[in-house]
Amino acid sequence: MRKPFIVANWKMHKTVQESADFVKAIKDHLPDPEKVEVGIAGQAFALYSMHEAAAKSGLRIIAQNAAPQLSGPFTGEISMRGLSQAGVSHVMLGHIERRRLFNETNEAVHQKVETAIMTGLTPIICTDETMVQREMNGEIHYVLKQLQSVLHGVSLDQIRDIIISYEPSWAVGVGQRANTALAEEGCRQIRRMIADIYTYEIADKIRILYGGSVNPKNIQEIMAKPDIDGVLIGRASLDVDNFLAMVNYQ
Ligand code: G3H
Repeated sequence: MRKPFIVANWKMHKTVQESADFVKAIKDHLPDPEKVEVGIAGQAFALYSMHEAAAKSGLRIIAQNAAPQLSGPFTGEISMRGLSQAGVSHVMLGHIERRRLFNETNEAVHQKVETAIMTGLTPIICTDETMVQREMNGEIHYVLKQLQSVLHGVSLDQIRDIIISYEPSWAVGVGQRANTALAEEGCRQIRRMIADIYTYEIADKIRILYGGSVNPKNIQEIMAKPDIDGVLIGRASLDVDNFLAMVNYQ
């Protein structure tokens, strides 16, 4: 039984005060953490305040990105060691916006995954594809290539706790109703790839999230799909009422 994981990705929104206030507003209304896991990926400067505001609520504090290096002369970068000591439990790696807008490569994401494992942060490995890439191949070869390079050298033991997300570019940020059949198909194929690369047992346990225009109206239908274990929510997660409606979708 895979525990659902509902994740807000605030992207470049909210100040320190706004982030902490949001966490205070939701923390007593979260679902039972034994049944549903909830996390928020805020901006780096707000994460520690969010951690403090979350107190013992079980809310996961998530970084949106971090450097592959442990420490050193890398001005402007964010260290995972620092994040893990600031109450952060997970780090998103290779989000579609990092890849498309900041030219993040599979190799860079691979190095970040290794650093996350080393520093005890749980990676949320993001995969994506365009409609053209999908149609050209008939199935998600592009995503398979992303996963193969990013997971290169990740052992059976290490893969168990890793989380993967699937974001079809045509559904991200557009606010249109996500096509749940395509979302399920993408996640199902990723699970099949994990079975090919690792084992069926691992594929059965690993959690795969879907991201792209998730909102309070479509979350139930999306979460009902057998291979979708959670969601990565952008725009609709910025509002307290919307977010609470989505984390309490059951
Ligand atoms: O990380 C979240 C995704 O990029 C989806 O964003 O919900 O605004 O489409 P969205």
